[in-house]
Amino acid sequence: MNRRIIITDDGSSTLYVPGLDEHYHSVHGAMRESMHVFIGNGLNRVEKNPIAVLEVGFGTGLNACLTLEMLKRSSRGVYYESWEKYPLTNAEYEELNYTSLDGVDESLYRSITGAPWNHEFRVYPDGILKKIEADFLNFTSPRYFDLVYFDAFGPDCQPDLWTAEVFNSIGIRQLPGSILTTYSVKGLVRRNLAEAGYQVEKVPGPKGKREITVAIKK
Ligand SMILES: C[S@@+](CC[C@H](N)C(=O)[O-])C[C@H]1O[C@@H](n2cnc3c(N)ncnc32)[C@H](O)[C@@H]1O
Repeated sequence: MNRRIIITDDGSSTLYVPGLDEHYHSVHGAMRESMHVFIGNGLNRVEKNPIAVLEVGFGTGLNACLTLEMLKRSSRGVYYESWEKYPLTNAEYEELNYTSLDGVDESLYRSITGAPWNHEFRVYPDGILKKIEADFLNFTSPRYFDLVYFDAFGPDCQPDLWTAEVFNSIGIRQLPGSILTTYSVKGLVRRNLAEAGYQVEKVPGPKGKREITVAIKK
């Protein structure tokens, strides 16, 4: 996939895909968006220990790194599974500036991005990462997930990933009260989440985005 690195408004980098006219994060701040959408309105809402997290779109590994770092620091156990159809190259990981930012542990970021695909990898004693190189349309899992980061490209770009059918394939692996968080508040996305059995809420978004979605499994 042809993509290039850009710097967003908070100084953190992200990728831009010219062929899709899509960014991996908000141009108003990649780090700010990850912290707000996925940590603030995802991880910070779930107290379970150990916790099982599912991510749709590993991408740069920023969400994974921020999440695993916070859980490691608070001595919580985690199984973190992340699906990715178009992995970055090592050169792309190297070009991103996350390891120079406050709040990102350089050696943790390197071990996460360098972890093997399709195998469980122990990031810290109670922290397991499994990166799966595959199309999320084929998602199945024997596990239940307490928290889901739905971070695919936007619904206008990838409508086939934001369907009630896909949300249902996740929903059957989430127990009542568990959470799915995503940056999109598009009406169709919220309706499809509701059809898949979620109670859908809009909450304030990060800079540059009025609202985001937090969905709670009923
Ligand atoms: C908006 S980016 C977010 C990336 C990531 N969460 C991050 O922090 O960098 C969307 C990601 O979804 C991935 N993706 C797109 N279609 C996919 C599919 N069908 N299955 C799995 N991953 C997909 C893209 O390659 C990209 O890495």
